[in-house]
Amino acid sequence: MAFKYKSIEENDTSGPKKGEDKPQVKGRANWQNKAGSLDTESRRDSPIGVFDSGVGGLTVAREIIRQMPYEKLVYFGDTARVPYGSKSKDTIIRYSRQIYRFLMTKKVKAIVIACNTASAYALETLSLESSVPIIGVIHSGARAAVEATQNGRIGIIGTSGTVDSRIYPKTIKALKPDVEVIQKACPLLVPLVEEGLTHDSVTDEIISRYVNEIKQKYIDTLVMGCTHYPLLRSAIRRIMGDEVTLVNPAYETAIELRELLRSEKLLCDGQNEGGHSFYVSDLAERFRDFASSILPKEVEESIKIQIEEY
Ligand code: DGL
Repeated sequence: MAFKYKSIEENDTSGPKKGEDKPQVKGRANWQNKAGSLDTESRRDSPIGVFDSGVGGLTVAREIIRQMPYEKLVYFGDTARVPYGSKSKDTIIRYSRQIYRFLMTKKVKAIVIACNTASAYALETLSLESSVPIIGVIHSGARAAVEATQNGRIGIIGTSGTVDSRIYPKTIKALKPDVEVIQKACPLLVPLVEEGLTHDSVTDEIISRYVNEIKQKYIDTLVMGCTHYPLLRSAIRRIMGDEVTLVNPAYETAIELRELLRSEKLLCDGQNEGGHSFYVSDLAERFRDFASSILPKEVEESIKIQIEEY
């Protein structure tokens, strides 16, 4: 049986408006200020919005589906504007606001920014503006790394944007100041995954070149700080060796989301499997095929939308 979406926040006029990208205000997240004023009972059956620059966020969606099979997802992949990893903070915030507005038209009850780069650049802004709970992937990954390390030496691999933002070192050091964090941007890995070269000697060679530098720093924990990288897990594992713990923030993010939904009384306690819908800004069929190869179930449809209109 399919869930019927209940209408939420029909008259909600908060959140970033189109053409009115307001400057961010420091303080409490907007949705926390509104907590209690919303009808949580009716929102429980609403979907969770998940977005990424493209297909990488499907690794996060996969974990959410595994851990919360009764939840419905609305996934948006910005396939027309990928990669985010080489773009400026202003651009990523503008894109993320458009996606937020799109997801809100789908009456989502919470949003997961399933992209490290967008989490690094836009989470703070969006959480001040959002009228629903919103989380990114960085905090979960950082916390898992701090818990995993024995020798206090953590490696981070990610896009240039994520590495340049220094969000992982800052978040990790805020959790545990005496930890050393060694970062390495790996810009070629996203295109290799997008090209489907996840099991290829060329990809192995490039991973080796990237990670050798941090391997020599005797890290015992490596955060796969880009949503595409868990798709390269076996190659990264082979190259790093068994003694290094690999942290996949997707897994931890799904745990954090479940806790958040539970604490906000938004966790779906239904007995039916959640239905999911997929939207992209380009190449809908290619996305659908890719998504079908990653997710536990065949994706029947992905719909192309004009994200600039939001
Ligand atoms: N999803 C992005 C991230 O996790 C990687 C792809 C991109 O550069 O857009 O950072």
